[in-house]
Amino acid sequence: MNYEDIFNDSYSRVLKREIDGKNFFDVFYDKFIGSSPFVKEKFANTKLEKQKEKVKKSFYHLIQFFVTKNVSPYMENIAKVHSKSKMDIEPYLYDFFTQSLIDAIKEFDTEFCDDVELSWRMVLSSGITYMKFQYDK
Ligand code: HEM
Repeated sequence: MNYEDIFNDSYSRVLKREIDGKNFFDVFYDKFIGSSPFVKEKFANTKLEKQKEKVKKSFYHLIQFFVTKNVSPYMENIAKVHSKSKMDIEPYLYDFFTQSLIDAIKEFDTEFCDDVELSWRMVLSSGITYMKFQYDK
């Protein structure tokens, strides 16, 4: 199996589950916001329910980017929104994003293993590299 397939299988497993009434994105956001006061501060005025839906949608585009290596207008837009001149999401904050996501997957994916973790890191890394690169452009 290639890493794209491993990722897809893991993603469908985590989306199906709820733990103590919380879905995957609830737990990811709890972890992400608790991961650093700097992350918490950025989300101070955010309505989290809407945000969770938007980020869920954005995963589809991250996967597309990983697979096709083509920058879609959607990716261009979220990179712009996160850049220094807009929300000022400094590149180091992406490490909290990735780690919180991996921690949430560990809880939600019953088949979690190194290959699963690596598949997520691979899929996310193209998009994250792109977003960080656009930070001060
Ligand atoms: C690959 C990583 C990330 C993806 C795919 C992502 C995706 C998104 C998307 C789709 C939105 C909604 C944009 C819109 O409404 O137009 C958003 C908003 C936002 N993101 Fe990210 N994001 C990422 C990383 C981060 C990181 C590391 C931070 C750091 C704290 C962050 C903070 C925010 C904030 C503060 C908002 C605005 C929320 C609001 O509307 O109040 N994001 N993100």
